[in-house]
Amino acid sequence: MTNQIELSGVNKHYGAFHALKNINLSIAKGTFVALVGPSGCGKSTLLRSLAGLESISAGELKIAGELMTNVPPRKRDVAMVFQSYALYPHMTVEQNLTYSLRIRGVAKAEAKKAAEEVAATTGLSHLLKRYPRELSGGQRQRVAMSRAIIRHPKAFLFDEPLSNLDAALRVHMRKEIRALHDRLNATSVYVTHDQIEAMTMADHVVVMREGIIEQQGRPLDLYDTPANKFVAGFIGSPAMNFIPAVVAEDGSSVTIDLGTVKHTLSVDHQLQPGRKVTLGVRPEHITITSPGQGTFDVPVGVVESTGSSTFVTAETTPELTIVETGRGNARAGETIGISVNAAQLHLFDETSGIRI
Ligand SMILES: Nc1ncnc2c1ncn2[C@@H]1O[C@H](COP(=O)(O)OP(=O)(O)OP(=O)(O)O)[C@@H](O)[C@H]1O
Ligand SMILES: [Mg+2]
Repeated sequence: MTNQIELSGVNKHYGAFHALKNINLSIAKGTFVALVGPSGCGKSTLLRSLAGLESISAGELKIAGELMTNVPPRKRDVAMVFQSYALYPHMTVEQNLTYSLRIRGVAKAEAKKAAEEVAATTGLSHLLKRYPRELSGGQRQRVAMSRAIIRHPKAFLFDEPLSNLDAALRVHMRKEIRALHDRLNATSVYVTHDQIEAMTMADHVVVMREGIIEQQGRPLDLYDTPANKFVAGFIGSPAMNFIPAVVAEDGSSVTIDLGTVKHTLSVDHQLQPGRKVTLGVRPEHITITSPGQGTFDVPVGVVESTGSSTFVTAETTPELTIVETGRGNARAGETIGISVNAAQLHLFDETSGIRI
């Protein structure tokens, strides 16, 4: 089967600045892909290159099997949905929806029918006569989505479409967008810097940093086996704890140094004694025990509870973050025991950051 979107060896330079570095990405039809990474890593550049709004400096970009090199944006048959909605303020919802069809020569009555059909799927039927200024943020975002859907594009390209919405609406809209994607059997590329959004919405997550793809795969595979320290720290919230460690004489345990706490932990590996490594442990994989009952004891610093979970900071160097379900028993200023499971530890090379 040909992929709906295929990038091979794609590079993009803005003058001397190398914004995309050898990007290889294959997206099968029907897939929801999330592009994540810190600000400035090249997410929008990649999306805009797909849409034809940026030209690429080297490599190949195909949509539905067709090479896009000389195809202008209008002819690419992809729809972009932005955070700013980009609705026409002087047009009603219906006119916003029918506009792109009308300029393509679709007859008035047919365009109106198409708008009504799309509005019914996106819950806008009762708002067709309103102007954008008369809509809530979520409703405007739905108009922007509808305007993309009405064109039956080969792919939907989303650039942080929900970042203007409040937290509750964002959670609601991400379910709505994913449900629409499934209903339309669409192919979607969704840019976000919110890794939770990426993890919950996507079939395939692409983690970028400084113009390169650090890792791509299924969301939980990235969580379980991050390829390097960067991905390990980026995926998962709160972020993974990183602890400097040295492989002990036996080669199957490491000595960690947390300032006041020094301890030896078994690891599921056989390594060169003396090798410097970074130990990674997720906050949710540390269990709190009574003092003396865990792997080692630590002093408790800040304790923050949201009701459903509690974040405990251990006052070590570096600090450790621990997440407990519920309210927990840790109190600031007290000592607790903590225990970790060797199977849930991650090891990275100290210098390269690559997973061991
Ligand atoms: N037209 C341009 N000319 C020069 N440099 C540019 C241009 N557009 C983007 N860049 C640079 O390319 C890099 C990638 O930008 P891009 O907009 O793709 O980042 P991003 O990952 O979308 O970030 P954000 O999360 O902040 O939106 C940035 O360092 C940016 O400054
Ligand atoms: Mg961007």
